[in-house]
This record gives sequence, C-alpha cells and structure tokens, in this order.
Amino acid sequence: MKRVLVLTGGGDCPGLNAVIRAIVKRASQEKDWEVVGSIQAFNGVLWEPTEIKILDSKAVKGIHYQGGTIIETTNKGGPFAWPVKNNDGTWSSVDRSDEMIRKLQFMGIDAVINIGGDGSQKISQLLYEKGLNIIGVPKTIDNDLSATDSTFGYQTAVEIATDAVDKLVTTAASHNRVFAMEVMGRYAGWIAMNAAVAGGADVCLIPEIPYDIHKVLEKVQSRFVKDRGFAVMVVSEGARPKNGKMSFTKNEEVGYENLKLGGISSQVLKELKEAGCNADMRNVMLGHLQRGGIPIAYDRVLAAQFGVKAFEMVLNKEFGRMVSYQHPEITSVLLKEAIGRPNLVTLDNALVKTCQGLGISLGI
Ligand code: F6P
Repeated sequence: MKRVLVLTGGGDCPGLNAVIRAIVKRASQEKDWEVVGSIQAFNGVLWEPTEIKILDSKAVKGIHYQGGTIIETTNKGGPFAWPVKNNDGTWSSVDRSDEMIRKLQFMGIDAVINIGGDGSQKISQLLYEKGLNIIGVPKTIDNDLSATDSTFGYQTAVEIATDAVDKLVTTAASHNRVFAMEVMGRYAGWIAMNAAVAGGADVCLIPEIPYDIHKVLEKVQSRFVKDRGFAVMVVSEGARPKNGKMSFTKNEEVGYENLKLGGISSQVLKELKEAGCNADMRNVMLGHLQRGGIPIAYDRVLAAQFGVKAFEMVLNKEFGRMVSYQHPEITSVLLKEAIGRPNLVTLDNALVKTCQGLGISLGI
C-alpha cells in the first residue's frame, strides 16, 4: 500500500475540507493508495506520540460544505522553527526538518500534499530541496498569491464581507451615521475592494494605496446634506495613511511570526474627527467571521478541482510543484516560482478603475 500524507497549514479557510475530501475520493479510485492526515499541519508528525488520522471515505463523508479543517491547522512554528522553551522561561526555535523527513520515511509516507498559503509553501519548497516528495495546494482568503488566478475561500470571504456592508448600510441610513468596516486581506486589498463594489460602499481604503484623510472626509461629507445622510467605508486591515504606518499589535503567542494587523478602522474614524467630521461614527471589525462557516459553491468547486489535481500530481510524481488555477485550466507551477510573489492591487487594475467610475473614494 502506498501512502500520501495530507496537511493543512496557516490560517483556516473555507474550502479546506472540500480539498481533503476530493483528495480522498480521487485516491480511492486507485487500488493501492491510502490517505492519512497530519493533525495541525506538520505538528502531528513532529509530536510524540504522533497524531495522524486515517482519511478514508467514511472520514470525509459530507465534509465538502463544512468550514474549517477536520485535520486542524496552525500558523505557528513548523519543522524549520520548532518552538522550544529555554531554562529561563524564554522561547527559541530549532530546526527539526531532517528528523521529520526521517520520521516520514519510517511511517511509510510516499508523498505529502501541503495545503497552505505562501508561508506553508515556503516550507514545502525547503522540504522538497531536502528530498521530500511534496506537492503544494494554494490556500488563502486574501487572494494574495500571484501563481494562481484564484484560491478557494477568497470568494466566500468576499461574500461574507459584502453581506456585512449590506447590513451596515441599513443601520447607517437609519441613524445618519458613518461606518468604517474593517476587513481582512493582510497586505492585499482584494477583499475590501470587491466588498466595496458589491456592497455599494462610499469609501474603500486598501494597503496598496495610502490614503489622504482629507480626501476621505470630502467624500464622507458629500454624502450628508444638512447633517442628514450616511456613509459606509470598507477599510482593509493593512490600509495606512499617507506617510503613516499600518495598525498592528505585537503577538505574544509562541511561534507566531506574522504581524497581527488590526485597528485601522478606529484610527480612520479618529482622523476623520480630527479633520472636522462631526457625524456620528462607528467602526466594525469583521475579523475571523470572514474565515468561518460554509464555503460558497464557487469555492467548493475550486477546492474539489485542486484536490483531484493534487492527487493526480502525486500519481504522476510531479513533486516540487504547486497546483495552480490558470483559467480555464487547473495546472501546476514550480513551488520555487510560486512563493514570495504577492498578488497586490495595482493602480492600473480594472477594479480600481471600476471604483473610481462608481465614485468610490480610495482616499486619493
Ligand atoms: O491570511 C489570512 C488571514 O486571515 C489574514 O487576512 C489575517 O491578517 C490573518 O490571517 C489573521 O491571522 P490569525 O488567524 O492568526 O489571527
């Protein structure tokens, strides 16, 4: 029996379970393959005792519409930076990658499918360079990977954010208020821009286009006539003022290396007030609601396509590569070419022009 190990790494994302199910369904058509899952990314392999779950048809039954991941995930640590506690109570990290590869051989693992974002695929590439038979499946709600046209989970996040804009419009209009709704996306403004266009927002602030608060104020004020009116702003968590910084807090969680972005929506309201806005204002942070719940049909389909393709790449021994959607094909790219190339909004993007055509202020 040959064995493929599947794992999910990084932040969870609607559609992960649909990928896992598709891998298992495709593998079950081959007589000699078994699928196993490592719990919490590579932790399941690295822990003593190991935590590995058999992924058979029963284990994945009906999970294609479930949010989250049945094999759990983590965005901390990993085989190259395993956290260890020092005698003085501080933490440092050690490289356990060689030990892990030996363990995988001992466990009879013939191939690994790593479902994750840029950080996870960097780990895939390093493991591939050490000789591991590994394939990447791209995953992120942020749509910030340039090696694939799209990732599952992103459209679901946009849908959730749009629904929130729709809801805020009614309460904002009823109270003659200004709302700043903060959405995820890290350094990419895709979720914000799509939700702003789909929800009919007045202002959209994104990381790629630092804003001038006076331009934002101009737009907000234009929405009021003699104190009556309302405005809804969609603010990406990575947005920042011209000559200013992103809003973030230091994350004390052991092994967490990313910046914990958040807080820009309340900062924008503070700046608006200082600039002379006297409307009632509220901010809303959508946060992890954007990652929870069921994936929309589009994401389930893309996830299923990625899962089937990933297993077929295992059969064809196409290691060191990442599944990629290049419309209309589900194909693959070299992992080393896929990583570290972020997909960010550029000023000449069609969606920027659409925003401008609709009169959505980008704060410029
Ligand atoms: O990359 C996905 C994402 O949801 C980002 O949009 C967000 O900044 C980050 O992860 C949040 O991470 P965490 O789950 O660690 O708070």
